Formats: sequence, structure tokens, C-alpha cells
Amino acid sequence: MFSLTEPLPDRLLAAFADEFKARPAFISRAPGRVNIIGEHTDYNDGFVLPAAIDKAIFFAGRLRDDNRVNVLSLDYEGKASFMLDNLRDDSLPGWTRYPRGVLWVLREEGHTLRGMDVAIVGDVPRGGGFSSSAAVEVSMLELASALFGIPLTQAEKALLGQQVEHRFVGIRSGVMDQMISAVGQKDHAVLIDCRSLETTPVPLPQGVTIVTIDTGVRRELVGSEYGLRREQCEEAARILGVKALRDVTPEQLAANLDKLPEVAAKRATHVVNEDRRTLDTVAALERGDIEAVGRYVNASHASLRDLYEVSIRELDIIADLAQKQPGCYGARMMGGGFGGAVIALVRDDAVAGVLDAVVRGYREATGREASVYHAKAGPGSSAMPVT
Ligand code: GLA
Repeated sequence: MFSLTEPLPDRLLAAFADEFKARPAFISRAPGRVNIIGEHTDYNDGFVLPAAIDKAIFFAGRLRDDNRVNVLSLDYEGKASFMLDNLRDDSLPGWTRYPRGVLWVLREEGHTLRGMDVAIVGDVPRGGGFSSSAAVEVSMLELASALFGIPLTQAEKALLGQQVEHRFVGIRSGVMDQMISAVGQKDHAVLIDCRSLETTPVPLPQGVTIVTIDTGVRRELVGSEYGLRREQCEEAARILGVKALRDVTPEQLAANLDKLPEVAAKRATHVVNEDRRTLDTVAALERGDIEAVGRYVNASHASLRDLYEVSIRELDIIADLAQKQPGCYGARMMGGGFGGAVIALVRDDAVAGVLDAVVRGYREATGREASVYHAKAGPGSSAMPVT
């Protein structure tokens, strides 16, 4: 849960009162995420090990008596107004897309909605691979579920958020980002089985800091490279005669690799071994073997670079620099790829030195400034009444 006196909810309540001359009925919160390991496995029904972070998107809202939706964004300093039967109006500002998408999906699912006054604020860095859009979707779902009295489990919220991506935005994303935003736990990563949606909290090790180092490079993966990877994985699964690559072990794949076209073979090799690495990482965390965790994380980066081919020079430079520093257990690119941030696991007393060396080395190699963030694992999404 969260407190209404925290800086962001506090600002949101004040802005809501200012704009709508009333108090909202509910405030919701949904966090962004980091991903320790398990990349490009979620849409293959596989395993991921993300953690929700202490940065989040907050919504405040109350119902209206008509079908109008008024939205105020503190971050974009913008306002928009639209009717519930015109949610697909593309002339509306881009930042309204995800909240509109949530209402659209709920209506498609047969829920009867009403208009509302809504205000939004957040501090999840946008485009850095922290899944700010999934946090917007899940937070809006928390708000809508509370306002309309629609009972939804955390997994159902995650699946509806994913539907927004698939059916409204047009990206066939996996379910990791929405799931971890909904089910995160303080001081824990969460092992998620992306087929059954079973979740297992895994305590994060003492003495280790999770940092992210953002390249500052942004690329849209809409429809192009991301969708292509997904198709290549589906092709591999079809040829191997399984429902998804999750159903193949590294040993089975090795024995059948010659049946696959070259590119599909590379993609499948990444996915199948990444699933194994993710489960091995959980086992290593459970026995306190952080050196082994670091080796899996480094292997994940090499695989994403060489086999899945979703890394870029800037990500490779940062991952290489980090991996070489004393006190850094492991580092790898995080998220979809083609930009965004590297995640690194660093011994607490080495954090300042590692970050200093990486930021400096990156500047020398590229002329760019990297931005760093110390990730603290926090709770998943929730909503609370405002009295
Ligand atoms: C993006 C998608 C996720 C996942 C990652 C890659 O973040 O939104 O569903 O597929 O890429 O692991």
C-alpha cells in the first residue's frame, strides 16, 4: 500500500481539487519494473524474474453522471476530454492513449462504464525500459476496478493491460511488465511462469545493490523488430511441434537444431537457454551464490547480443564496462532492446566506483551521458479510497 501524504499522491490530490473542485473517490498506484533475468521469454510462455521498483504512476478519479471523461496529466501539463463512445479518437494527445485503451478494453469485455474525472502523475522514467506504459495501464485498471466495482485479480489486471497493448496500441507484447507491476513485493524479485501466471517471490540478496545505467538511446520497437522476433520464435515452435518454446529443453533443442532455419535456430537457442538460466538464477539466489547469479546475467547479455540480436553498441559498451569493474557481479541489457538501460548487480561498497567508471567510460566512447538509478524493489499495484 501507499500513503496519501507521499509527495506524488499529495500533489495529485491538490491538482485534482484545483481542476475538478472536488476530492477524488479513489487513488491508485502501479509501479515500473526492472528485470533481473528472463528476457524475451515471456511471449514464449517462459520464465522471467523481474522486480517492481519504487517509482510508480498514480491516478486519482471520481465518477461523473454522464459519459464524458476529463483527464489531467501533471507530467505532460495537459488536459483532454472525450466521450466513452469515442475512445479511438487519434486526434487526442498521445499521453491519453493508454488510459483510453484501458476503458476501451473494459467496454469490449462487456463492462458498463460511466464518465469520470481523472488526474495522473508519475515518476517512472519514460522509454528507459522501466515499463512506464504497463504501469499506466495497471494503475488505470486499479482505478477503474475500484470506481466501477469490477472485481479483478492481479493476474486479470495484468492480462487486461496486455490486451490494451495487443488490441488498442497494436504491439504483441508479453505479459511480464503488467504482471510484475501488479504482483511486485518489497525487497523481492518475483519468478513468474508466463504460461500459468504462477508467481514465486524470491528474496533479493543482502549486500547487493541493483543499479540501472541508461544509454539515453530510444528506439520504438512498435511492430517491427519486436514483432519479427515473436514470429521467428513461433516459427521455431511450429517446426519443433510444440505449443511454445517453453516446451523445449536445451537438450531437446540441441538434438533438433538442424531442423530449423538459421535465424529461427539462433532465436530459439536464446529463448530456451534463457528460460534455463532464469530458473538457475532463482536456485543460485536461494543458496546465496551471487557469483553464479552474475555469470547467468552476463551470459544473458551475450545471448541477447549474439543470438537474439536485440542489443545495440551503446548497450554493449555499458554492459562490457560494468562487467569489468571489481565488485560488479553481472550486467546485461534489460527489456526489449534497441535502446534503454543496462541492469547491473553490484556489491554495496563498490557501487560508487562502478558507476563512476561506467559513466566515464561511456562518455569517452560515445560522447553521451548515461543516467543511473538505484532500484529498490517495492510492492505491486493497489488502489485506496480517499475519504
Ligand atoms: C518488452 C515487452 C515485454 C518483454 C520484454 C522482453 O518489455 O513489453 O513483454 O517481452 O520486452 O523481455
